[in-house]
Amino acid sequence: MWWLKATVISLSVCAVVGGRDFPPGFKFGASTAAYQVEGAWNASEKSMSIWDTYVHTNPHKIANNATGDVACDSYNNWKTDIELASKMGLHFYRFSISWPRLLPSGFPDYISKDGMRYYNNLIDALLENGIEPVVTIYHFDLPQSLQNLGGWTNPLVADWFANYARVVFSLFGDRVKTWITLNEPITFCDISYNIGNAAPGHTSPGVGSYICNKNAMLAHAKAYRIYEKEFKSKYNGKISISNQVFWFEPHTKSDDKAAEKARQLMAGMYYHPIFSKKGGWPPVIERIIAKKSKKEGLPYSRLPAFTKEEIKLVKGTYDFLGLNFYTSRTARVAKPGEQIGSWPFYGAPDLDIIVDVKPKWKKSDIWWLYINPEGIRNQLAWFKKEYGDIEILITENGFASYNDDINDKDRVQYYKDHLEQVLLAIKEDGVRVTGYSVWTLIDNFEWGDGYSVKFGLHHVNFDDPKRTRTPRASADYYASIVKSHSLDINNKITDSGTKKIKKSAALILLMVFINTCLSA
Ligand SMILES: *[C@@H]1O[C@H](CO)[C@@H](O)[C@H](O)[C@H]1NC(C)=O
Ligand SMILES: *[C@@H]1O[C@H](CO)[C@@H](O)[C@H](O)[C@H]1NC(C)=O
Repeated sequence: MWWLKATVISLSVCAVVGGRDFPPGFKFGASTAAYQVEGAWNASEKSMSIWDTYVHTNPHKIANNATGDVACDSYNNWKTDIELASKMGLHFYRFSISWPRLLPSGFPDYISKDGMRYYNNLIDALLENGIEPVVTIYHFDLPQSLQNLGGWTNPLVADWFANYARVVFSLFGDRVKTWITLNEPITFCDISYNIGNAAPGHTSPGVGSYICNKNAMLAHAKAYRIYEKEFKSKYNGKISISNQVFWFEPHTKSDDKAAEKARQLMAGMYYHPIFSKKGGWPPVIERIIAKKSKKEGLPYSRLPAFTKEEIKLVKGTYDFLGLNFYTSRTARVAKPGEQIGSWPFYGAPDLDIIVDVKPKWKKSDIWWLYINPEGIRNQLAWFKKEYGDIEILITENGFASYNDDINDKDRVQYYKDHLEQVLLAIKEDGVRVTGYSVWTLIDNFEWGDGYSVKFGLHHVNFDDPKRTRTPRASADYYASIVKSHSLDINNKITDSGTKKIKKSAALILLMVFINTCLSA
């Protein structure tokens, strides 16, 4: 009976090791952002945000002149959103708080009762449904009153944000245990100030963008320090920042240096000051911009320096790393005189680097989203190499389409391929990824793309005043992954990895028993 024994033992070992299972305790979620789903732009005491102003004064900059005035009307439909998350069995729901909804003046002199009630209701109902709230404090919607004072280019913004964050911690910190201070400074600093096609819509390439970069780092750090000092011992939550990062590969074999520079620009600018041992800007980027600024005749670098105190203030302000990942690029050194364009997406002028894509990467419906699932694994491994064995939470990952298809096979494939790579990063590369969140729960207002681009696990009918939500195939697929806690979704032995291990252990014991009987 040796063959029976061998088969039984190897089957049991396989079940225990669970090649395609996510680690016990790994959490799955879905993400949204206030301006993209809430609507109710003028409800109650809410004041104007820079996105309200931007869409109303520049209708031509948004696909089909769309606005977020109503969006998914989640301000009224939040119970439905929670039902969707609950039906999928999500462990957490990531949403953002609208600063002008909570603090209409932008300052903590007055807290809107309706604003507070809205977020209290949302948080309480999530918890009642066994869903953890993961809260982004800032997701692009600065109060217009603060923009009138210079917004993210005024150094005081770090204190304005920190004071707002303190209000948020004191109101919701008893129930919210995972915080993201800022979402994607690369978008509200670099895309915004370099290209001008995001609120506030002012361009100041290579100047305003870098000032915003520095102020964003200080804003994050001050909020982190407030939480650390005033709330952490009481509430014991975790707090960090999320940025969107493209993975960069060398364009040809000789472009390793260019690719690494591009990584240090896109990821390093927002993670090096916080996560590296030394702190401050990535040295290679700091050197390049200082040299360029000097050549331009400036007596200082366009990238504002951190003081020693500021480096210390920012360094180490994390409990995990938040990553938004969608796509990859190649990088190569620009040829002399070659037109570069504005960073990001079009190239990196200060670095004299041209970014491109590999022909084998399939494009989604939107122009910037090329599909390279290996990119997420490489990016995760790069973080470990650069910053050590840190905890990583994937706060966004998703696929865009122009069609309304309910049977969204391409999106299902995107999630499958990316989750496979996340699993390889965990199991093969030993990266400590503890959770994964899709962008996004429901179709929404996708900034400059308006409602033309769909990222949702659920379709939303924007012609229907009720904004009816319909699950797509990807919602069912994601739900089955969450349920089986594994990429082997047909192998629905149990609904959690931990239970699976217990069952396998019981199976082994049974086999050992049978085996003993057979031998006897
Ligand atoms: C809010 O804006 C809508 C248009 O989106 C408008 O119809 C409505 O009258 C406004 N409400 C208030 C209170 O101003
Ligand atoms: C968008 O608004 C502009 C005016 O800013 C108008 O000329 C144009 O026809 C509008 N386009 C659509 C699709 O509504």
